[in-house]
Amino acid sequence: MSIERPVIRPRRLRQTPVLRRMVAETAVRPANLVLPAFVREGATEPVPISSMPGVVQHTRDSLRKAAVEAAEAGIGGIMLFGVPTEKDAVGSGAVDPDGILNVAIADVVSEVGDAITVMSDLCLDEFTDHGHCGVLAGDGSVDNDATLEVYAEMARAQASAGVHMVGPSGMMDGQVAVIRTALDEAGHRDVSILAYSAKYASAFYGPFREAVDSSLKGDRRTYQQDPPNALEGVREALLDIEQGADIVMVKPGLPYLDVLRAVRDAVDVPVAAYNISGEYAMLEAAAANGWIDRQAAILESLAAFKRAGADVILTYWAVEAAGLLR
Ligand code: PBG
Repeated sequence: MSIERPVIRPRRLRQTPVLRRMVAETAVRPANLVLPAFVREGATEPVPISSMPGVVQHTRDSLRKAAVEAAEAGIGGIMLFGVPTEKDAVGSGAVDPDGILNVAIADVVSEVGDAITVMSDLCLDEFTDHGHCGVLAGDGSVDNDATLEVYAEMARAQASAGVHMVGPSGMMDGQVAVIRTALDEAGHRDVSILAYSAKYASAFYGPFREAVDSSLKGDRRTYQQDPPNALEGVREALLDIEQGADIVMVKPGLPYLDVLRAVRDAVDVPVAAYNISGEYAMLEAAAANGWIDRQAAILESLAAFKRAGADVILTYWAVEAAGLLR
């Protein structure tokens, strides 16, 4: 006598929303989200960024309000980027205590205190007239070790302004160690480091160039990673942890979920992912054309980051998504 095998039916667990939620393998929480925000020196009104509909270059005042709104939404952090009026070859505005990013850090910290983690991009590309992430050598190449000295000074300036966490994003070798040492020696032992560890030379940063009025000509391929490489991303993350990174990040996001998963599996610190400007712009453009369900696509994107192993997600939709996730 033969026993008939029942059909295995995975669909049973998909029958109702509450059941799907009960068995969901992952869930994004508002506290996992970080809002990147731009602040423009001298601006009297927020300036829209045309390639990122819904995102603006803030005035100092509107940034304070955005930080309060972000804290009230229950998100985990806000990552600040400064847009200076004057740029020069060495990015002087980045280390000046009165530079736009440093004053904005102080503004936000005084406004929201510890209600949100205040983070700052630690890189020179917003401040240099050539748009590179570091200072240049005589032959026009980016001078790694000379740049490290500026990063150390930038870290001290940001920490003095009260930042909770710095985000070195320039892909200079040794940057995390130099920044950790600079912070410790200046007494800022509790300022943490979110390292942009596996950061790729990506075409998807396009809209960000408009967001920070970047004057970059050429590319960053001699210091940012080459898109075909995944193991190298893991290596960069491990090196950053050895140097003192508290959180390591993979960037861009959606085109690099495999790297995110590989890094998550290789390290024992929190891993962040950056859902970058080009990813934002593509989804918004498709939604504006009626080609995609905007909210559903945003939530699906965030779920994908979580599934691939992200503990923390930087996204321009952070505040809106926090509302949708409640
Ligand atoms: C460097 C930095 C960049 C981004 C974040 N930090 C640009 C770059 O390295 O070219 C891109 C973020 C985005 O595209 O949303 N300061």
